[in-house]
Amino acid sequence: GDRPQEAMRSAHEIAASTYHHVLMLTEQGSSGRQYIKERGFSREQLEHFQIGFAPDRWDALTTILTKKAFDLKMMASASLLGERESGGQFYDRFRNRVMFPIWDGQGNVIAFGGRTITDEKPKYLNSSESPIFQKGKTLYGLHLARPSIRKQGSIVLFEGYVDVIAAWGAGIANGVATLGTSLTEEQAKLIRRNAESVLLCYDSDKAGTEAAFKNANLLQQEGCIVKIAQMPEGNDPDDYIRQFGAERFKNDVIGSSLTLMAFKMQFLRKGKNLNDESERMQYIESVLAEMSSLTRAVERDHYLRQIAEEFSLSLDALKQEQNQLYRAKE
Ligand code: UTP
Ligand code: MN
Ligand code: MN
Ligand code: MN
Ligand code: MN
Repeated sequence: GDRPQEAMRSAHEIAASTYHHVLMLTEQGSSGRQYIKERGFSREQLEHFQIGFAPDRWDALTTILTKKAFDLKMMASASLLGERESGGQFYDRFRNRVMFPIWDGQGNVIAFGGRTITDEKPKYLNSSESPIFQKGKTLYGLHLARPSIRKQGSIVLFEGYVDVIAAWGAGIANGVATLGTSLTEEQAKLIRRNAESVLLCYDSDKAGTEAAFKNANLLQQEGCIVKIAQMPEGNDPDDYIRQFGAERFKNDVIGSSLTLMAFKMQFLRKGKNLNDESERMQYIESVLAEMSSLTRAVERDHYLRQIAEEFSLSLDALKQEQNQLYRAKE
């Protein structure tokens, strides 16, 4: 193999077990343990995801990597260390943060996400891209989730590391996360290679909802069958599980997810008074317009019938309306 990349991977392995040891067993880890306790992670979660803590020091990892004769400049280019402007002087890049190892598909640690335990910015400091870490090709937790993904034939996609970890604690073991809300085409293809069905379980806020629409379309283009989970406004999966518990998460969130079209319909009716005729007509027209993205006739038929039933309209009238709409668009 490639020497520098091997050294980088081996240093990441050492860093991950050092951070984990600090969190689990040392005095320097006590503020990290306090933070973890407040967030409610169990020992099993800490072990399974090898969560750690980077002490509030400039030289903890630097000293270890120096003793083990790693090339520190190389370690800086792997984003584990920083190099002072003057050059030749190195320091720990991650300090006073709870550390989440990020693995490649084979389970090698290739990067970290470090969460501050204070209100320091950024909230999550992530490794920069390096010869071993390309953010747009990585899915957090994939190698751990793979057995469950195989068994279920589906993936649950989250936007945060802690959401994957909380879901695992609630018995949902086929979860992975992008590192933020953006999903690349490569990640979408990687998801499709691992499962046909995808459930998007994003934060119930503006960013999460927008990302769900966008990423659902992208995943659909790659041939996935996409569903979208719903939670109360303002919640993310981790919040929800802490507030309402595992059973409700499994039944009311994972079990009651919507198809993309149903999710769009729900979104379009938000804030509308459907007892008002003109608002109702507006809603129906926007739903009919959205339906043009459905490629399968049976699916179109299903939603047309649903609308017809809800608003006591004839199916024929709806179909006519839809044909007019499509013609007007051409
Ligand atoms: P969120 O802001 O939703 O964070 O960002 P979270 O997962 O709920 O984290 P907690 O509960 O506040 O600890 C979702 C994801 O976006 C990326 C991280 O991958 C995070 O898990 N992110 C967020 C960053 O990379 N940097 C940031 O500063 C914030
Ligand atoms: Mn351990
Ligand atoms: Mn978010
Ligand atoms: Mn969140
Ligand atoms: Mn959160």
